[in-house]
Amino acid sequence: MKIAVIGLGFVGLSLTSVLASKGNNVIGIDVDVEKCKKIRSGIAPFFEPDLEKMLRIGLKKKLTITDDFSLVKDCDMIFVAAGTPQKSNGAIELSMIKKAVTSIGRVLAKSKKSPIVLIKSTVIPGTMQNVILPILERRSGKKAGREFGLISNPEFLQESSAIRDTKFPHVIVLGGYQTKFMKKAKSFFSKLHPNVSITITNHQTAEMIKYANNSFLATKISFINQLSNICQNIPGANIDDIAKTIGLDPRIGALFLNAGPGYGGSCLPKDMKALIDFANKIGINPTLLNAVEKTNQKQIQNIVSIMENTLGTLASKRITVLGTAFKPNTDDVRDSIAIELIKKLLKKKAKITVHDPKAIRNTKNVFGGKICYDESITRALNNSHCAIIMTQWKQFGELNNKSIKCMKRKLIIDCRRILANKKLDAEYYALGIGK
Ligand code: UGA
Repeated sequence: MKIAVIGLGFVGLSLTSVLASKGNNVIGIDVDVEKCKKIRSGIAPFFEPDLEKMLRIGLKKKLTITDDFSLVKDCDMIFVAAGTPQKSNGAIELSMIKKAVTSIGRVLAKSKKSPIVLIKSTVIPGTMQNVILPILERRSGKKAGREFGLISNPEFLQESSAIRDTKFPHVIVLGGYQTKFMKKAKSFFSKLHPNVSITITNHQTAEMIKYANNSFLATKISFINQLSNICQNIPGANIDDIAKTIGLDPRIGALFLNAGPGYGGSCLPKDMKALIDFANKIGINPTLLNAVEKTNQKQIQNIVSIMENTLGTLASKRITVLGTAFKPNTDDVRDSIAIELIKKLLKKKAKITVHDPKAIRNTKNVFGGKICYDESITRALNNSHCAIIMTQWKQFGELNNKSIKCMKRKLIIDCRRILANKKLDAEYYALGIGK
């Protein structure tokens, strides 16, 4: 069995590496020639724990990395993991996925194989039926369900645990018609993940499951952030004790109750906006989803307010932002709340220094010479009027009186309560802890 994976981002490259490491014959395809070169030499184009290790194991087995789409012609399964970024109106941009399936269609037209095309990309309900399937049938001149299979196969991996999640998913979703291709796909996944539950449904439900998943996670985060803001105004109240306790109720669950500066990253904000846009288009007023989104956007203003209430005007104040990655253990700054915060602070003419264990290079790509960067936390804090912890890197828990000694004003705003139990000679504000 030969497997192609198209699009070598977090989802595609993780899948490629895990499948190849298990000895499958895999072709990883991406249009970016430079990226392919890097991957071929065993270097991941972004930081993701365990990814390079897995990739290198794969490269020693039967893995090909290429920008040549024609190689899908011999494949039995073709996974599409092209990005679906956001347009300015909140809707998703389908150009990359359309390009990918157009190329697949052209190759299918000349191929003798009857492969299964599995779409992993996050797409709005109806996209498979109304966009992807017609392109594939038109370009290949073949019929889906008869001459090739088409299955919606949404992905649930998280960045920073992409390899673990690819190896041990919590569920497999297969959306499409009940054909021989569906049977084949089910058997493939049952062998790959023997004890994982498989949901077999139609395309539109599979597409919606992905949005349901991400919007529920976003809802949990906005819920706990709203409670965190309430706690902040109850002297002595602590959001972490509350989250830990309600998380013990199995109806609630412990995960995604970590209050902070709001959810960021390339998925939750984008998927929330796309779902809201879709609901509006089909005549449903998504009141709850709108509130979740609004709560998330407001969280950053709460942080700026704490700064202004303590420092007065922010013009010319030196502020050290600790953490620009959208979460720990990644170098990804896409849609990171820290990046949004820096933009706001720059508008207020503050002087910004940034430290992040992995994301300085990507932060430089956003701000260039407009802000300062330091590889050392202590140096980044030098002469600063305020330090703000944005990302929950465990390294920030090691901050102590020595590291903050050279701050001009020892003001610390801790969005993740990492230092809540430390005795620091500083003015300390933590989101979710009442003063
Ligand atoms: C998210 C989903 O968790 C994945 O299941 C999904 O596959 C992925 O999007 C996707 O659609 O591709 P990811 O973007 O990697 O994964 O990030 P998350 O771990 O969900 O975190 C998103 C944001 O929420 C981060 O800014 C994080 O700091 C924040 N967050 C998360 C909190 O503030 N509190 C929490 O308790 C959890």
